[in-house]
This record gives sequence, C-alpha cells and structure tokens, in this order.
Amino acid sequence: MTQDEMKRLAAIAALDYLEGGIVGVGTGSTVNHFIDQLAAVKDRIEGAVSSSEASTARMQQHGIRVLDLNDAGELSIYVDGADESNHRLELIKGGGGALTREKIVAAASRKFVCIADGSKLVEVLGKFPLPVEVIPMARSYVARELTKLGGDPVWREGFVTDNGNLILDVQGLEITDPRGLEQTINNLAGVVTVGIFALRPADVLILGTPGGAKTITAA
Ligand code: A5P
Repeated sequence: MTQDEMKRLAAIAALDYLEGGIVGVGTGSTVNHFIDQLAAVKDRIEGAVSSSEASTARMQQHGIRVLDLNDAGELSIYVDGADESNHRLELIKGGGGALTREKIVAAASRKFVCIADGSKLVEVLGKFPLPVEVIPMARSYVARELTKLGGDPVWREGFVTDNGNLILDVQGLEITDPRGLEQTINNLAGVVTVGIFALRPADVLILGTPGGAKTITAA
C-alpha cells in the first residue's frame, strides 16, 4: 500500500467524527483527501473554516461553503494532518507553511482530529525540521536565538506564508519537552508561531496503515 493510499484511509475514517455544523479544515496532502471526501457529504455540514488559501480553493472547487472564522464561533471539530506526532498526540506541523492559521483554527475547535499515514508516529519529536513562522525583519535575529537553543535553522528561501511572513526550518532538535519549547520559541520577538502543537495537542490521531485505519486517543 502506498503512503498516499494510507493518507486516504485516514481521511475517510475522519468522516465518522463529523457532527454537522461548521468544520475546521487543515492543509496538506492528507487533508486534500479529506476535502475530497467531504464534498460527497457537504449537505450534512453548514460549511467549513479553512486554514489556508490552498484548502479554500480546493473546497470552493467542490462547492463547499467556506466561512471566515470570525463569523463561525466555536467549531465542533478540526481535521488536519501533521508532519510528526508523538504518543501524547503532540505534533510538529507546518511542512506546508500553514502553521499559524492551523494553530488558530485548532485553538477555536472543541475536538482536533489529526489524520496521517502511519510513518508520522514517532517516539520523540524533532527529526522532521521544525517550522517557525517569522516576521521578515526578524529572520536573522530569530535564527541566532534558535541556534542558541541547540537547533540549526534553515531559511525556506523563496517561500512566503499566506500571512506574508517567512519560515525557518529548524533541524537537529530532539524535542523532549514539547510544551516548554513551544512556549520558549513563541516568546522570541518576531516569531509569529512555532510549529509545535503541544499546548493544544490533537484529541484523536487516525493513522492510515496497511492493516486499515488505526485510532489513538489522547490519554
Ligand atoms: C501544513 O502546513 C502542515 O501542517 C500539514 O498539516 C502537514 O505538513 C502534513 O502534510 P501532509 O498531509 O501533506 O503530510
């Protein structure tokens, strides 16, 4: 079974968590499968709040109504992918650069359902380079501070986020205290968001595997 087929399995299983109302929708190749599945049941929901221009475009192509978060109130469910998850469902996200809007929509949702292929489950976060969204003028300063924290930041050159900012991908971190590091990096001047999702982890992780979709619930 290919990685893409495993992503699709996880996306299909996430449909079971729909409660009607307005659904928060993340970004990435796994979520693209979810959006394609959502199209078939769009009459069961009021609409969606999107975490990126890319997901908005895909949903609109399917005729799914996309609302502004400010008009939606609290969302019952948020469905998004991840670059890594540990067993506590603390995540690294932002491989696609949409981490800030993803973190906002996750924060505004009662339940966060994370969908991924089985390779994303790890013992310790950090093998995947940690994305950090920064205000452009702070890029060098934040990079120096991230180096002091033991990381090796690499500027994602040529990439601009939906918010007009830049991304530093931090290699070489072994993230044994995700909540602490999330707070430390978020507190650096010029950082918009770090791609650690530990203060608000996922509630449910659905992994697509060759044996089917496997669900892990936060303890
Ligand atoms: C987007 O910014 C990311 O947070 C994605 O959720 C993450 O990169 C997962 O992407 P895939 O579903 O493409 O693996």
